[in-house]
Amino acid sequence: MPSKQVFAHKDGATYTTSNGAPVPEPYAAGRLGRRGPLLLQDFHHIDLLAHFDRERIPERVVHAKGAGAFGYFEVTHDVTDISCASMFASVGKKTPAVVRFSTVGGESGSADTARDPRGFAMKFKTDEGNWDWVFNNTPVFFLRDPAKFPHFIHTQKRDPQTHLKDASMFWDYLSQNPESVHQVMILFGDRGIPDGYHHMHGYSGHTFKWVNAQGKFVYTQVHLKKKGGAKTILAEDAVRIAGENADYGIQTLFEDIQDGKFPEWDVFVQTMTPEQAEKFRYNILDLTKIWPHDQFPLRPVGKLVLNENPQNYFAQIEQAAFSPSHLVTGVEPSVDPVLQSRLFSYPDTHRHRLGTNYQQLPVNAPLVPIANFQRDGPQLFVHQGARPNYQSSIAPLTYKARPYDLEDHEVFLGNALYDLSEITELDFEQPRALWQKVFDDGAKERFVKNVAGHLKDAHPPVITRQLSVFAAVDQGLADRLAAAIGVATVKPLAVKPAAHAENTKYKFKAA
Ligand code: HEM
Repeated sequence: MPSKQVFAHKDGATYTTSNGAPVPEPYAAGRLGRRGPLLLQDFHHIDLLAHFDRERIPERVVHAKGAGAFGYFEVTHDVTDISCASMFASVGKKTPAVVRFSTVGGESGSADTARDPRGFAMKFKTDEGNWDWVFNNTPVFFLRDPAKFPHFIHTQKRDPQTHLKDASMFWDYLSQNPESVHQVMILFGDRGIPDGYHHMHGYSGHTFKWVNAQGKFVYTQVHLKKKGGAKTILAEDAVRIAGENADYGIQTLFEDIQDGKFPEWDVFVQTMTPEQAEKFRYNILDLTKIWPHDQFPLRPVGKLVLNENPQNYFAQIEQAAFSPSHLVTGVEPSVDPVLQSRLFSYPDTHRHRLGTNYQQLPVNAPLVPIANFQRDGPQLFVHQGARPNYQSSIAPLTYKARPYDLEDHEVFLGNALYDLSEITELDFEQPRALWQKVFDDGAKERFVKNVAGHLKDAHPPVITRQLSVFAAVDQGLADRLAAAIGVATVKPLAVKPAAHAENTKYKFKAA
């Protein structure tokens, strides 16, 4: 919220310097005589230029282009048996939210209709601190080893020399890292270009742990389903819209909210007990896989509604800082390596992008009071008064214990391993089901056209390698792609047999 000393109206304010003094000549710099040099004493002029020189902050290294709005989460179904998070305390409880949608690879001026996953980040200001859901619009991701993330992202950005996007780089990475193929099937299918930002579903992708007041946990995957269904755009229309209005997604979100057409999502959770996880065919810590809905049905939790536009995009959306590590009592991270890595990466980049005290910025500040021993640093504006800056015995802070004991949770034992990306037949089952069972004839045709249209520009050996990945999904798919590109058919890459071993790599403590 603007400080009450600052005029935030569109009109009616008196022009001042940053120290609040009215300026009689806003469009004029002070100078000496009719032909003379400028005066250093003209603070208004210096202040104006110096602030302008510092207007830009670094854009997000990924997800730079986006749009956002405010709203709320409302509990519609009781889930207190699986989580004691205060946000879920009672049916009907509402929690304020700030939400930011984004594309991933492009710069902050890039087109909203790019073929790219979409970010769907939410900050819930609960009465026990902020809980962020930093989700995407797809339930899976390109990788399961976080060490690959910066390499992968580099290949989706610009070539170091030409400063151009490069189809060879793009497919070179994907073809060398075939665990990406499930996400590639979604990205180049009809779901690859959502219609704007607010007609899409959202997914945690990662497994989290929800914990109830007794300390019992279940593994969870969260889904947000757009009320009225998701909408997508065909490739040709996306290209046309990108030329006509690169900000199509920002504009339609803003206008729908302005017109009272508030976007709404139903929130569901899939749950899995530790015992089920041990028997599950796939590793629950591998976010290239989904949990089949027939085995793990969607349980309704609540709804998310967006009903308020930002007043100031920079302050309220650009400065919003989401992190999967902004968690609250009642939810714990799973040990999914990509999630664990993200827990570090987001606050780290926020300290770089926004500064040490990023949590104090109004859009990020929790609604509940902060009391800790963090002190000072640049741009401090919410101080902790005269309270001691250490745990003093004279005026101590009290500590609120968790209502549950983490000692009853998983126990891990093992050697140092670097084998997260071992490829087995398991990696192709779900992409194959998409191709063979989910895509109808039209969807198949569009998929082949979308992939062929992009892959054809890659170096020939890269084309061959990526076709061998598609052949491991389905030989017929690879053959159709080869024909569309005009190259010879390719045999599947050699893949180890499916081995259901991953979940037995960790043991659960006996009750
Ligand atoms: C943004 C890192 C994977 C969702 C970001 C940012 C970084 C990052 C550094 C920029 C944040 C900022 O400047 O505010 C990583 C790393 C990953 C990873 C290291 C894997 C190792 C994922 C996954 C998801 C995801 C799997 C979704 C399931 C998002 C979203 C944003 C984002 C939604 C935009 C947040 C916003 O709107 O401010 N990521 N990311 N990321 N990431 Fe990731």
